[in-house]
Amino acid sequence: MRLDGRTAIVTGGANGIGLAIVRRLVTDGARVMIADIDEAAGAAAVEAISGDGEVRFTAADVSERLDVHNLVARTIDAFGSINALVNNAGIVHAADFLDLTEADFDRVMNVNLKSAFLCGQAVARHMVERIGEGDEPGSIVNMSSINDTLAIANQVPYSVSKGGVSQLTGVMALSLAQHGIRVNAVGPGSIMTDMLASVADNPELRTRVLSRTPLGRIGDPSEIAAVTAFLLSSEASYVTGQTIYADGGRMP
Ligand code: NAI
Repeated sequence: MRLDGRTAIVTGGANGIGLAIVRRLVTDGARVMIADIDEAAGAAAVEAISGDGEVRFTAADVSERLDVHNLVARTIDAFGSINALVNNAGIVHAADFLDLTEADFDRVMNVNLKSAFLCGQAVARHMVERIGEGDEPGSIVNMSSINDTLAIANQVPYSVSKGGVSQLTGVMALSLAQHGIRVNAVGPGSIMTDMLASVADNPELRTRVLSRTPLGRIGDPSEIAAVTAFLLSSEASYVTGQTIYADGGRMP
């Protein structure tokens, strides 16, 4: 198994793409800590997946420094060390640029971008410490989007935050390369989760999205999980600083 003996944190791992990543990492042999604000879904995920391997849940708002500190401490308590981090938690907020409030701008930026900095720094500090004690360097994946590059008119902070996530990925990769820690991003196109419900439920919008997707279908969360698992594994040992788009060919 590609991730045998590894331990991972998956933020936003209680639903959607994050949950598919948790399932995939457990299948690949990792022990996984889910960090999410959705406690009911987190508990359900632990119950559903536990038979297949070891998975635990910590309630955490990953845009809050204290929650991130507790998350890292609890994961080290549970598993001994952290070899992998998936910064996947994310939210959207639809508003016209002229109507967008400062509070909504800040909230989306904090959940989508600041969380990747907070979790990335806390976990990378732990990884560097462990490398000093003889551990193999770990690996980090940030969940970006095709909207890191393609702007959407009514998703101002979302597009800006994802641009930041891809840029943060490059900066983290450069900074942590000296320790052997790899940092990459996955850029999904349209993937069938609750986040995409507004598209899936609107025939006109759905047709428009599909017409821009060369493979002609909406993606499944497991297809993002597969790319994430590859990037975390040693099969991607010479890959760092990249954003890999899994988008049915949408990106130019
Ligand atoms: P989702 O809405 O199904 O799941 C997001 C998860 O993040 C939920 O479990 C939610 O409770 C959790 N979460 C939200 N705020 C949090 C916080 N402050 N702290 C901890 N957990 C929090 O969304 P989906 O579709 O699974 O998205 C996952 C990631 O993939 C996001 O970063 C999103 O931007 C990205 N993405 C999704 C696409 C799609 O088409 N579904 C396309 C491109 C990127």
